[in-house]
Amino acid sequence: MRDIALLPPPENELPHLWQKPAYGVLLECLEKLRLEPRVWSLSVSRADTVKERNATFHDRREALSFLSAIIRSSLAWLDSDVEREVIWEEASKRLSERCGRTAMGEITRRWPFEDNGHGAFSLAIREPPLTGDSLGLKTWGSSYALARLLHELAFGPLAHLFVPGAMSTPDEVLELGSGTGLLGLAAACVWKTRVVLTDLPTIIPNLAHNASINREVVEAQGGRAEVARLTWGGAEGDIDPMFRIPNRYQLIIVADPLYDDDHPALLTSAVDEQLALSADARVLIMVPQRDETTKGLLGVLRKELSRRPNPLLCLDEDVVDGQDDWGEDNDDETRHVGFWWGIFGRAESERG
Ligand SMILES: C[S@@+](CC[C@H](N)C(=O)[O-])C[C@H]1O[C@@H](n2cnc3c(N)ncnc32)[C@H](O)[C@@H]1O
Repeated sequence: MRDIALLPPPENELPHLWQKPAYGVLLECLEKLRLEPRVWSLSVSRADTVKERNATFHDRREALSFLSAIIRSSLAWLDSDVEREVIWEEASKRLSERCGRTAMGEITRRWPFEDNGHGAFSLAIREPPLTGDSLGLKTWGSSYALARLLHELAFGPLAHLFVPGAMSTPDEVLELGSGTGLLGLAAACVWKTRVVLTDLPTIIPNLAHNASINREVVEAQGGRAEVARLTWGGAEGDIDPMFRIPNRYQLIIVADPLYDDDHPALLTSAVDEQLALSADARVLIMVPQRDETTKGLLGVLRKELSRRPNPLLCLDEDVVDGQDDWGEDNDDETRHVGFWWGIFGRAESERG
């Protein structure tokens, strides 16, 4: 029996535990079953996603039963406790990779950006294990969908903010609710400008880590990224002193900021405090059309922005197709979502 176990199983087949597979054979199988975290692509259709899922190395059910059999087994035939621990730990990791984003441990995904005239680059973004309601520890579909539109928008509805041909903004860009930082770091690279990425104090350590591991890429692209705490409607200690100068930013960017009833009013107050009062100033917001709640919150945000003493009105908007990996009703949790984006500017009567 031990001799059979020493042979690797035929390609694309998993060994049976009754064959008492050797440590090396088990380890090799567990390595083959590794699932890399998903990186979405706007160019991949739903049909392609399903095809890709069906073409994975092993049938999902077969892999799950192999992994849970390892965890249930005493692995008594292996040579030492150290070997047993390694195999159990690897099997647990492979299981958690199959349990959806919420159950995964820490991951780092590399997000590619094709060369649209600004040079191709990719950003490594760390996402710690999700705890409590710290939604800023996950990278959301909007941040990638919006990041991939930045180049086009700079030549379209935001063109007046960019020096023609030079792709640099006259002033720095502020990002609100940056989360893991994908959008803000991409903006620094694509627009070759200084971007200040902000979020709640609890989200800042991971955000700062991501800014730091991508510093070389950002600087090679001609950009700069800075990280600072900025809590919408927060107390003094939750807001970096650099934000005390009001109405300083010509351009504010935000991805997926609305998931609580308070968010439209809180976000509006932060935008109102930080956005320049000039007619040129713009806020670029993306809100995924995930469900009726998010759509409703976007409606409230539009009203809130239009009701300020210096009202902000939507000047351009559209919906693009994209993906996200949040949900309870999906095996691999990749969902196709319409992502609404809008650009707001000061109402005509209030400008100047
Ligand atoms: C759904 S996440 C989106 C994160 C990131 N923009 C993305 O698309 O990956 C919402 C973000 O808003 C931040 N946020 C929520 N309430 C906030 C507040 N009052 N002040 C500042 N940031 C807040 C969260 O910490 C989180 O990073």
